[in-house]
Amino acid sequence: MPTLLITGANRGIGLEFVKRYAAEGWQVIACCRDPQAATALQAVPGKVTIERLEVTDYAAVDTLAAGYADTAIDLLLNNAGIYGNRDGALSISDFDTYLKVLQVNSVAPMKMALALLPALKKARAAKIATISSRMGSIGAGAGGSYVYRASKAAINAAMHNLALDLKPAGITCIVLHPGWVKTDMGGQGADITVETSVSGLKQVIDGAALKDTGKFFNYDGSEIPW
Ligand SMILES: NC(=O)c1ccc[n+]([C@@H]2O[C@H](COP(=O)([O-])OP(=O)(O)OC[C@H]3O[C@@H](n4cnc5c(N)ncnc54)[C@H](OP(=O)(O)O)[C@@H]3O)[C@@H](O)[C@H]2O)c1
Repeated sequence: MPTLLITGANRGIGLEFVKRYAAEGWQVIACCRDPQAATALQAVPGKVTIERLEVTDYAAVDTLAAGYADTAIDLLLNNAGIYGNRDGALSISDFDTYLKVLQVNSVAPMKMALALLPALKKARAAKIATISSRMGSIGAGAGGSYVYRASKAAINAAMHNLALDLKPAGITCIVLHPGWVKTDMGGQGADITVETSVSGLKQVIDGAALKDTGKFFNYDGSEIPW
């Protein structure tokens, strides 16, 4: 069966992805910061291996990747993310947080992709799917939320270019907007449940092929402007 490696697997959208792929018999390498506290993740039935990973610990990312260098990883799902401060227009309250958000949302997914390339190249038609946000679309910008928007725009740009560079290797690289989802990040007033979001995202990811590489998809399969 194929293998998925996912970050931020202990709650929210990430946990739902683990449940879905494990239910289909995939081998799931589920990364989270605190495996002992990840009781919901521990309870997921199937072939789930839990790995401790703080995604901004780049040495730890290298160690994890070295451990799986001989494993064919079919799907890397960069899911871990943070919002930072909920600043409005004309305000950034904390520039240290700005850097942290960039590290988690923009730098870490690229570090994951590059570190795991040997394992991805071992799979027949590997995919890198990164959970971004419509808020990172420059074309669909609406002002405010500068930090989160900038972090997602940065990963969009990096993944778009990674897609071009990995196309000759047959690796499909896409970025996805999950909708406004009822999670700790999205809040309970959000539009859709994690189940609805992940059903859509999974359909897009599973159906994606090399012809789709470098695209930015909504969870319903429509394309979002960069
Ligand atoms: N919910 C929405 O409406 C929405 C909309 C657009 C995009 N997104 C994106 O969807 C993705 C998942 O979000 P969510 O709604 O499921 O959020 P969530 O419920 O807040 O979960 C975030 C996940 O990321 C992990 N994480 C955060 N910082 C990390 C770090 N430094 N190292 C490792 N793991 C880290 C968290 O782990 P801990 O439990 O250890 O903190 C948690 O597992 C994010 O990339 C987010 O930006 C969400």
